[in-house]
Amino acid sequence: MTQRTLVLIKPDAVRRGLVGNVLARFEAKGLTIVALEQRLIDATQADAHYHEHVEKGFYPPLRDFVTSGPLVALVLEGDEAIEVVRAINGATDGRKAAPGTIRGDLSLSNRENLVHGSDSPESAEREIALWFPSLVPA
Ligand code: RTP
Ligand code: MG
Repeated sequence: MTQRTLVLIKPDAVRRGLVGNVLARFEAKGLTIVALEQRLIDATQADAHYHEHVEKGFYPPLRDFVTSGPLVALVLEGDEAIEVVRAINGATDGRKAAPGTIRGDLSLSNRENLVHGSDSPESAEREIALWFPSLVPA
């Protein structure tokens, strides 16, 4: 089933010059870039994006991290894109993520883990509307 998913290439990846490396993996897999923009987000946008985490203990440093510099937001499309992107991203903790995944190859952190991918069709719909409202049919 063709799906769309919201991906963030987080500020650590931008700072480290890894945007091209990350994008190349998604493109090589066969996913299509539907929208892409570099943005610097504020705390309000961070809270909206991570609304399920705002009450958690790890959230204040996560908010500081995702607002610490530019990130690249994009929408990818393809067969089973939501699950495929989560597999390419790898486990949340870069120290434990499998080699071959973005996090497993390039991250040594549980927070600064380079990428975000929507975790379900409901999350993808909500996140695409939040980041790219022009993509939502009227
Ligand atoms: P994401 O939402 O960014 O795709 O990551 P995920 O689903 O793999 O992980 P999630 O549980 O949704 O956590 C969101 C982001 O919060 C940071 N985090 N820090 N214990 C901690 O310090 C901790 N746990 C999670 C990570 O940046 C994670 O990607
Ligand atoms: Mg998540």
